[in-house]
Amino acid sequence: MTPVSATRASWSGTTGSAEDFVPPKPTLAKLRAASKKCKGCDLYKVGTQTVFGEGPTDARVVIVGEQPGDQEDRAGHPFVGPSGKLLDAALEEAGIDRGQAYVTNAVKHFKWDEQAGTKRRIHKKPNAREVNACHPWLEAELEVLKPDVIVCLGATAAQSLLGKEFRVSTQRGKLLRPFGAKPLVIATVHPSSVLRAPSDQRAAAEKEFMKDIRKIGKVVKGG
Ligand code: URA
Ligand code: SF4
Repeated sequence: MTPVSATRASWSGTTGSAEDFVPPKPTLAKLRAASKKCKGCDLYKVGTQTVFGEGPTDARVVIVGEQPGDQEDRAGHPFVGPSGKLLDAALEEAGIDRGQAYVTNAVKHFKWDEQAGTKRRIHKKPNAREVNACHPWLEAELEVLKPDVIVCLGATAAQSLLGKEFRVSTQRGKLLRPFGAKPLVIATVHPSSVLRAPSDQRAAAEKEFMKDIRKIGKVVKGG
C-alpha cells in the first residue's frame, strides 16, 4: 500500500524517526516487539512504555487514535481509558465488534506534563515532528494488515495518514478513497473531544460521533 508512504512528504523536514527501528519483513508480532525499543523521538523518555496497536491479524477495520493516554500508558494497551469506553459504546451501537478491529495510535508513546502541585499527568498534544517520527510504525501496521477500512479518530490520526492540510471539521464522516479502491478512510472527531464538550453541547457531540461511527458500521457490513 504505497500511498500511505506518499503522505510522509507532508511531514518532511524533520529529524529522527522510527524508521531505523522497523524490522524488515515485518509481522505484527515482530513490529510490536521491535517497537518496545524505539527511540525514534524523545517521547520514549516521557512515556512509560510503547503502546502498540492491538487486534487480530485478519482485521478488516483499523481504528487510529492520537496517542496513548494516562491509563493506556500504565496498562500498555490502546484505548482502555475513558476515551476507549466511549469508543467501545459507539462501536457496539454501530454493530462493530471491537475484537474484530485493530486499534492503534498515530503516536505510540504518551506525551504528558505534570499538573502543578498535583500528581496528575496532563495529556500534551504530540507535535508534527513526533507524529512524523512515529509514522513508520503506523505505516508498517497498515502494510501488514491491508485493511478495507481505516477510521481516524481526531486530527492527529487523520493528518498522519492524509497530510497536514486535512481538516476533520469539514471532512468528518465522509467516505474517502485517498489510496484508490482500498482502504476506504473515514475520519471523525476524537472521543476525548466528546468527553470534554461543555455540558450543554455534550449530547449533540456524542450524537454526531455516534452517527459517524454508525456509517462505518454500514460500510463494514457492506451496506
Ligand atoms: N486516546 C487515544 O488517542 N488513544 C488511546 O489509546 C487512548 C486515548
Ligand atoms: Fe518511537 Fe513513536 Fe515512541 Fe517516538 S513516540 S519513541 S517514534 S514509538
